[in-house]
Amino acid sequence: MKTIARPLLRCLHAALLACTFAGTAAVKATTPQDCHAVNRETCALAHALGRGINLGNMLEAPREGDWGVRLEPAFIALATRHFQTVRLPVRWTNHAARTADARIDEAFARRVDGVVDALLARGARVILNVHHYTQLTGGTLHPNEFAVDPSVLEERLVNLWRQIAWRYRDRPPRLLFELLNEPHGTLDGERWNRLAARALAAVRPSNPTRVVLIGPGDWNHPRALSALRLPRDPYLIVAIHTYDPFEFTHQGVTWRPDPLPTGMRCCDEAQRAKVVQALDEAMRWNRENGVPVHLGEFGAYSAGDLASRAAYARLVRDEAERRGIGWAWWEWGSDFSGVYDPARRAWVEPLRRALLD
Ligand code: BGC
Repeated sequence: MKTIARPLLRCLHAALLACTFAGTAAVKATTPQDCHAVNRETCALAHALGRGINLGNMLEAPREGDWGVRLEPAFIALATRHFQTVRLPVRWTNHAARTADARIDEAFARRVDGVVDALLARGARVILNVHHYTQLTGGTLHPNEFAVDPSVLEERLVNLWRQIAWRYRDRPPRLLFELLNEPHGTLDGERWNRLAARALAAVRPSNPTRVVLIGPGDWNHPRALSALRLPRDPYLIVAIHTYDPFEFTHQGVTWRPDPLPTGMRCCDEAQRAKVVQALDEAMRWNRENGVPVHLGEFGAYSAGDLASRAAYARLVRDEAERRGIGWAWWEWGSDFSGVYDPARRAWVEPLRRALLD
Protein backbone atom coordinates (compact mmCIF):
# COMPACT_ATOMS: atom_id res chain seq x y z
CA MET A 1 0.00 0.00 0.00
CA LYS A 2 1.33 3.45 -0.87
CA THR A 3 2.68 5.35 2.13
CA ILE A 4 0.50 8.32 1.27
CA ALA A 5 -2.55 6.24 2.21
CA ARG A 6 -1.30 5.59 5.74
CA PRO A 7 -2.38 8.80 7.47
CA LEU A 8 -5.76 8.40 5.85
CA LEU A 9 -6.09 4.86 7.13
CA ARG A 10 -5.06 5.98 10.62
CA CYS A 11 -7.89 8.52 10.65
CA LEU A 12 -10.33 5.93 9.46
CA HIS A 13 -9.22 3.61 12.25
CA ALA A 14 -9.62 6.26 14.89
CA ALA A 15 -13.17 6.91 13.73
CA LEU A 16 -13.98 3.22 13.64
CA LEU A 17 -12.57 2.63 17.08
CA ALA A 18 -14.64 5.40 18.51
CA CYS A 19 -17.78 3.63 17.25
CA THR A 20 -16.65 0.09 17.97
CA PHE A 21 -16.29 0.49 21.69
CA ALA A 22 -18.87 3.26 22.02
CA GLY A 23 -21.78 3.10 24.41
CA THR A 24 -19.79 1.56 27.25
CA ALA A 25 -17.34 2.79 29.82
CA ALA A 26 -14.57 1.62 27.50
CA VAL A 27 -11.31 3.51 27.44
CA LYS A 28 -10.46 5.51 24.33
CA ALA A 29 -7.98 4.00 21.94
CA THR A 30 -4.93 6.20 21.83
CA THR A 31 -2.83 4.24 19.35
CA PRO A 32 -4.90 2.91 16.46
CA GLN A 33 -3.46 -0.15 14.81
CA ASP A 34 -1.42 0.12 11.66
CA CYS A 35 -2.97 -1.44 8.57
CA HIS A 36 -0.44 -0.69 5.86
CA ALA A 37 -0.19 -4.31 4.68
CA VAL A 38 -3.92 -5.02 4.44
CA ASN A 39 -6.74 -3.31 2.65
CA ARG A 40 -9.38 -0.98 3.98
CA GLU A 41 -12.09 -3.65 4.40
CA THR A 42 -9.82 -5.88 6.45
CA CYS A 43 -8.72 -2.98 8.59
CA ALA A 44 -12.32 -1.91 9.19
CA LEU A 45 -13.37 -5.45 10.06
CA ALA A 46 -10.46 -5.91 12.47
CA HIS A 47 -11.57 -2.90 14.40
CA ALA A 48 -15.24 -3.72 14.20
CA LEU A 49 -14.55 -7.00 16.03
CA GLY A 50 -14.75 -4.96 19.23
CA ARG A 51 -15.95 -6.98 22.21
CA GLY A 52 -16.14 -10.73 21.73
CA ILE A 53 -16.83 -14.02 23.43
CA ASN A 54 -15.65 -17.57 22.78
CA LEU A 55 -18.47 -20.11 22.70
CA GLY A 56 -15.88 -22.52 24.06
CA ASN A 57 -15.90 -26.12 25.32
CA MET A 58 -18.87 -26.99 23.12
CA LEU A 59 -18.14 -27.72 19.46
CA GLU A 60 -14.43 -28.23 20.09
CA ALA A 61 -14.95 -30.96 22.67
CA PRO A 62 -14.16 -34.33 21.06
CA ARG A 63 -17.94 -34.77 20.81
CA GLU A 64 -20.36 -31.98 21.67
CA GLY A 65 -21.41 -32.46 25.29
CA ASP A 66 -18.25 -34.33 26.32
CA TRP A 67 -17.10 -31.28 28.26
CA GLY A 68 -20.38 -30.73 30.07
CA VAL A 69 -21.99 -28.06 27.93
CA ARG A 70 -23.90 -28.03 24.66
CA LEU A 71 -24.39 -25.04 22.44
CA GLU A 72 -27.97 -23.90 23.02
CA PRO A 73 -29.98 -21.41 20.95
CA ALA A 74 -30.43 -19.34 24.12
CA PHE A 75 -26.64 -18.83 24.31
CA ILE A 76 -26.62 -17.55 20.74
CA ALA A 77 -29.40 -15.09 21.48
CA LEU A 78 -27.80 -13.76 24.62
CA ALA A 79 -24.22 -13.70 23.45
CA THR A 80 -25.04 -11.82 20.27
CA ARG A 81 -27.12 -9.29 22.17
CA HIS A 82 -24.13 -8.31 24.29
CA PHE A 83 -21.02 -9.08 22.27
CA GLN A 84 -20.20 -7.85 18.78
CA THR A 85 -18.13 -10.88 17.89
CA VAL A 86 -18.44 -14.57 18.60
CA ARG A 87 -15.43 -16.84 18.19
CA LEU A 88 -16.60 -20.35 17.47
CA PRO A 89 -14.03 -23.05 18.25
CA VAL A 90 -14.72 -26.26 16.31
CA ARG A 91 -12.93 -29.62 16.40
CA TRP A 92 -13.42 -30.53 12.74
CA THR A 93 -10.58 -33.04 12.84
CA ASN A 94 -12.56 -35.45 14.99
CA HIS A 95 -15.55 -35.31 12.64
CA ALA A 96 -13.76 -36.06 9.40
CA ALA A 97 -12.31 -39.08 7.63
CA ARG A 98 -9.03 -40.38 9.01
CA THR A 99 -7.58 -40.35 5.51
CA ALA A 100 -5.75 -37.46 3.83
CA ASP A 101 -8.94 -36.19 2.16
CA ALA A 102 -10.48 -35.61 5.63
CA ARG A 103 -13.99 -35.75 4.26
CA ILE A 104 -16.12 -33.92 6.81
CA ASP A 105 -19.02 -35.74 8.43
CA GLU A 106 -22.14 -34.14 6.96
CA ALA A 107 -24.27 -34.33 10.11
CA PHE A 108 -21.59 -32.52 12.10
CA ALA A 109 -21.11 -29.93 9.37
CA ARG A 110 -24.86 -29.25 9.38
CA ARG A 111 -24.70 -28.72 13.11
CA VAL A 112 -21.97 -26.13 12.61
CA ASP A 113 -23.91 -24.54 9.71
CA GLY A 114 -26.88 -24.04 12.01
CA VAL A 115 -24.80 -22.27 14.64
CA VAL A 116 -22.87 -20.13 12.18
CA ASP A 117 -26.03 -19.05 10.38
CA ALA A 118 -27.90 -18.30 13.59
CA LEU A 119 -25.01 -16.12 14.76
CA LEU A 120 -24.78 -14.32 11.43
CA ALA A 121 -28.56 -13.82 11.32
CA ARG A 122 -28.27 -11.92 14.59
CA GLY A 123 -25.73 -9.56 13.12
CA ALA A 124 -22.65 -10.95 14.86
CA ARG A 125 -19.19 -11.15 13.46
CA VAL A 126 -18.17 -14.77 13.63
CA ILE A 127 -14.67 -16.23 13.80
CA LEU A 128 -14.84 -19.88 12.79
CA ASN A 129 -11.71 -21.89 13.46
CA VAL A 130 -10.10 -25.30 13.56
CA HIS A 131 -9.50 -26.00 17.24
CA HIS A 132 -7.63 -28.82 18.99
CA TYR A 133 -5.86 -30.91 16.38
CA THR A 134 -3.93 -32.44 19.26
CA GLN A 135 -1.93 -34.96 17.28
CA LEU A 136 -0.59 -32.31 14.93
CA THR A 137 0.96 -30.39 17.81
CA GLY A 138 2.36 -33.54 19.41
CA GLY A 139 0.05 -33.51 22.43
CA THR A 140 -1.68 -36.34 24.26
CA LEU A 141 -5.01 -37.17 22.66
CA HIS A 142 -8.12 -36.22 24.61
CA PRO A 143 -10.57 -38.96 25.60
CA ASN A 144 -12.74 -39.74 22.53
CA GLU A 145 -10.27 -38.08 20.16
CA PHE A 146 -9.00 -40.43 17.47
CA ALA A 147 -5.51 -40.68 16.02
CA VAL A 148 -4.64 -40.78 12.32
CA ASP A 149 -1.64 -41.96 10.36
CA PRO A 150 1.03 -39.28 11.03
CA SER A 151 1.78 -39.03 7.30
CA VAL A 152 -1.66 -37.47 6.62
CA LEU A 153 -1.80 -34.99 9.51
CA GLU A 154 -0.90 -31.85 7.57
CA GLU A 155 -2.76 -32.82 4.42
CA ARG A 156 -5.89 -33.27 6.47
CA LEU A 157 -5.73 -29.71 7.75
CA VAL A 158 -5.33 -28.37 4.22
CA ASN A 159 -8.21 -30.49 2.95
CA LEU A 160 -10.42 -29.53 5.87
CA TRP A 161 -9.94 -25.91 4.92
CA ARG A 162 -10.71 -26.62 1.29
CA GLN A 163 -14.06 -28.05 2.38
CA ILE A 164 -14.89 -25.52 5.10
CA ALA A 165 -14.07 -22.65 2.77
CA TRP A 166 -16.22 -24.05 -0.02
CA ARG A 167 -19.08 -24.70 2.36
CA TYR A 168 -19.21 -21.12 3.64
CA ARG A 169 -18.13 -19.33 0.47
CA ASP A 170 -21.46 -17.47 0.16
CA ARG A 171 -21.66 -16.21 3.72
CA PRO A 172 -21.21 -12.47 4.29
CA PRO A 173 -17.79 -10.96 5.05
CA ARG A 174 -18.78 -10.90 8.74
CA LEU A 175 -17.75 -14.55 8.78
CA LEU A 176 -14.01 -14.85 9.30
CA PHE A 177 -11.90 -18.00 9.20
CA GLU A 178 -9.06 -18.79 11.61
CA LEU A 179 -6.72 -21.48 10.34
CA LEU A 180 -5.71 -23.14 13.61
CA ASN A 181 -6.01 -22.40 17.30
CA GLU A 182 -2.71 -22.08 19.15
CA PRO A 183 -0.09 -23.91 17.10
CA HIS A 184 2.68 -25.00 19.49
CA GLY A 185 4.82 -27.99 20.39
CA THR A 186 5.83 -29.91 17.28
CA LEU A 187 3.95 -27.40 15.11
CA ASP A 188 5.91 -24.21 15.55
CA GLY A 189 8.24 -21.89 13.66
CA GLU A 190 8.86 -22.75 10.03
CA ARG A 191 6.71 -25.86 10.02
CA TRP A 192 3.71 -23.79 11.02
CA ASN A 193 4.59 -20.99 8.57
CA ARG A 194 4.64 -23.49 5.72
CA LEU A 195 1.44 -25.24 6.74
CA ALA A 196 -0.45 -21.99 7.33
CA ALA A 197 0.48 -20.86 3.81
CA ARG A 198 -0.82 -24.14 2.38
CA ALA A 199 -4.07 -23.94 4.36
CA LEU A 200 -4.60 -20.35 3.24
CA ALA A 201 -4.00 -21.38 -0.35
CA ALA A 202 -6.76 -23.97 0.04
CA VAL A 203 -9.17 -21.25 1.20
CA ARG A 204 -8.47 -18.66 -1.47
CA PRO A 205 -9.90 -20.28 -4.63
CA SER A 206 -13.42 -20.28 -3.14
CA ASN A 207 -13.01 -17.27 -0.83
CA PRO A 208 -10.68 -14.78 -2.50
CA THR A 209 -11.65 -11.91 -0.20
CA ARG A 210 -12.61 -13.68 3.03
CA VAL A 211 -10.71 -12.29 6.01
CA VAL A 212 -8.59 -15.04 7.54
CA LEU A 213 -6.87 -15.02 10.91
CA ILE A 214 -3.47 -16.62 11.38
CA GLY A 215 -1.76 -16.71 14.75
CA PRO A 216 1.88 -17.20 15.68
CA GLY A 217 3.26 -20.37 17.29
CA ASP A 218 3.84 -20.77 21.02
CA TRP A 219 0.10 -20.88 21.71
CA ASN A 220 -0.47 -17.63 19.78
CA HIS A 221 1.53 -15.68 22.34
CA PRO A 222 2.78 -12.31 21.05
CA ARG A 223 6.37 -13.29 21.91
CA ALA A 224 6.22 -15.71 18.94
CA LEU A 225 5.18 -13.04 16.44
CA SER A 226 8.74 -12.42 15.32
CA ALA A 227 8.89 -15.98 13.93
CA LEU A 228 5.63 -15.68 12.02
CA ARG A 229 5.99 -15.42 8.23
CA LEU A 230 2.72 -14.47 6.63
CA PRO A 231 1.84 -14.99 2.99
CA ARG A 232 1.33 -11.69 1.18
CA ASP A 233 -2.42 -11.29 1.34
CA PRO A 234 -4.41 -8.12 2.03
CA TYR A 235 -7.20 -10.02 3.81
CA LEU A 236 -5.33 -11.17 6.92
CA ILE A 237 -5.64 -10.45 10.63
CA VAL A 238 -3.20 -11.87 13.14
CA ALA A 239 -4.63 -13.76 16.12
CA ILE A 240 -2.90 -13.43 19.47
CA HIS A 241 -3.74 -14.97 22.84
CA THR A 242 -2.46 -14.01 26.25
CA TYR A 243 -3.01 -15.71 29.56
CA ASP A 244 -0.34 -13.65 31.32
CA PRO A 245 0.22 -13.73 34.25
CA PHE A 246 -0.02 -17.47 33.68
CA GLU A 247 0.42 -18.50 37.34
CA PHE A 248 -2.70 -16.48 38.07
CA THR A 249 -4.87 -17.39 35.09
CA HIS A 250 -4.05 -21.11 35.15
CA GLN A 251 -3.90 -21.70 38.91
CA GLY A 252 -5.44 -25.04 39.81
CA VAL A 253 -6.27 -26.18 36.26
CA THR A 254 -6.96 -29.86 36.45
CA TRP A 255 -5.46 -30.95 33.14
CA ARG A 256 -1.89 -29.87 33.94
CA PRO A 257 0.38 -32.70 35.09
CA ASP A 258 1.89 -30.23 37.60
CA PRO A 259 -1.08 -28.12 38.79
CA LEU A 260 -0.18 -24.56 39.72
CA PRO A 261 -0.93 -23.60 43.32
CA THR A 262 -4.18 -21.77 44.01
CA GLY A 263 -4.66 -18.66 46.14
CA MET A 264 -2.93 -16.18 43.84
CA ARG A 265 -4.76 -12.89 43.47
CA CYS A 266 -4.62 -10.24 40.76
CA CYS A 267 -3.47 -7.63 39.78
CA ASP A 268 -0.41 -6.06 41.39
CA GLU A 269 2.09 -3.95 39.52
CA ALA A 270 4.25 -6.84 38.32
CA GLN A 271 1.17 -8.69 37.07
CA ARG A 272 -0.12 -5.63 35.28
CA ALA A 273 3.28 -5.20 33.67
CA LYS A 274 3.04 -8.70 32.18
CA VAL A 275 -0.29 -7.94 30.55
CA VAL A 276 0.98 -4.64 29.20
CA GLN A 277 4.20 -6.20 27.94
CA ALA A 278 2.39 -8.84 25.88
CA LEU A 279 0.06 -6.31 24.29
CA ASP A 280 2.87 -3.81 23.66
CA GLU A 281 4.83 -6.54 21.94
CA ALA A 282 1.84 -7.17 19.67
CA MET A 283 1.55 -3.46 18.90
CA ARG A 284 5.24 -3.18 18.05
CA TRP A 285 4.83 -6.06 15.63
CA ASN A 286 1.71 -4.44 14.21
CA ARG A 287 3.50 -1.16 13.54
CA GLU A 288 6.37 -2.91 11.79
CA ASN A 289 4.23 -5.28 9.75
CA GLY A 290 0.99 -3.39 9.14
CA VAL A 291 -1.33 -6.35 9.76
CA PRO A 292 -3.96 -5.76 12.48
CA VAL A 293 -4.02 -8.04 15.51
CA HIS A 294 -6.96 -9.50 17.38
CA LEU A 295 -6.85 -10.87 20.92
CA GLY A 296 -8.82 -14.07 20.43
CA GLU A 297 -8.44 -15.48 23.93
CA PHE A 298 -7.79 -14.36 27.48
CA GLY A 299 -9.40 -15.68 30.63
CA ALA A 300 -8.74 -16.78 34.21
CA TYR A 301 -9.59 -20.24 35.50
CA SER A 302 -12.41 -20.59 37.99
CA ALA A 303 -10.12 -21.82 40.79
CA GLY A 304 -8.97 -18.22 41.30
CA ASP A 305 -11.05 -15.87 43.45
CA LEU A 306 -13.80 -14.15 41.56
CA ALA A 307 -12.92 -10.57 42.47
CA SER A 308 -9.38 -11.07 41.18
CA ARG A 309 -10.62 -12.70 38.00
CA ALA A 310 -12.90 -9.75 37.37
CA ALA A 311 -10.03 -7.33 38.03
CA TYR A 312 -7.95 -9.28 35.50
CA ALA A 313 -10.76 -9.25 32.93
CA ARG A 314 -11.17 -5.50 33.31
CA LEU A 315 -7.43 -4.92 33.08
CA VAL A 316 -6.88 -6.90 29.89
CA ARG A 317 -10.01 -5.51 28.28
CA ASP A 318 -8.99 -1.92 29.03
CA GLU A 319 -5.42 -2.42 27.88
CA ALA A 320 -6.60 -4.06 24.64
CA GLU A 321 -9.15 -1.36 23.94
CA ARG A 322 -6.63 1.36 24.68
CA ARG A 323 -4.53 -0.10 21.87
CA GLY A 324 -7.46 -0.52 19.50
CA ILE A 325 -7.31 -4.32 19.75
CA GLY A 326 -10.58 -6.23 19.48
CA TRP A 327 -10.84 -9.03 22.05
CA ALA A 328 -12.72 -12.22 22.87
CA TRP A 329 -13.00 -13.60 26.40
CA TRP A 330 -12.37 -17.28 26.99
CA GLU A 331 -15.19 -18.35 27.54
CA TRP A 332 -18.99 -18.21 27.59
CA GLY A 333 -20.48 -20.79 29.98
CA SER A 334 -18.09 -23.49 31.03
CA ASP A 335 -15.75 -24.15 33.90
CA PHE A 336 -12.67 -22.33 32.64
CA SER A 337 -14.00 -18.83 33.12
CA GLY A 338 -17.57 -18.70 31.93
CA VAL A 339 -19.15 -15.27 32.05
CA TYR A 340 -22.55 -16.98 32.03
CA ASP A 341 -23.76 -19.80 34.25
CA PRO A 342 -26.00 -22.18 32.27
CA ALA A 343 -27.12 -24.01 35.42
CA ARG A 344 -28.48 -20.85 37.06
CA ARG A 345 -29.41 -19.26 33.71
CA ALA A 346 -27.68 -16.12 34.91
CA TRP A 347 -24.63 -13.99 34.23
CA VAL A 348 -21.62 -14.45 36.46
CA GLU A 349 -21.12 -11.15 38.19
CA PRO A 350 -18.75 -9.38 38.52
CA LEU A 351 -17.23 -10.95 35.40
CA ARG A 352 -20.02 -9.66 33.18
CA ARG A 353 -19.56 -6.14 34.52
CA ALA A 354 -15.82 -6.28 33.98
CA LEU A 355 -16.28 -7.25 30.35
CA LEU A 356 -19.39 -5.39 29.33
CA ASP A 357 -20.02 -2.32 31.48
C1 BGC B 1 -8.12 -24.12 24.98
C2 BGC B 1 -8.95 -24.41 26.19
C3 BGC B 1 -8.28 -23.88 27.43
C4 BGC B 1 -7.90 -22.44 27.25
C5 BGC B 1 -7.11 -21.93 28.41
C6 BGC B 1 -7.89 -22.67 24.91
O1 BGC B 1 -7.22 -22.38 23.73
O2 BGC B 1 -8.80 -24.51 23.84
O3 BGC B 1 -9.20 -25.78 26.28
O4 BGC B 1 -9.17 -23.96 28.52
O5 BGC B 1 -7.17 -22.26 26.05
O6 BGC B 1 -5.97 -22.70 28.62
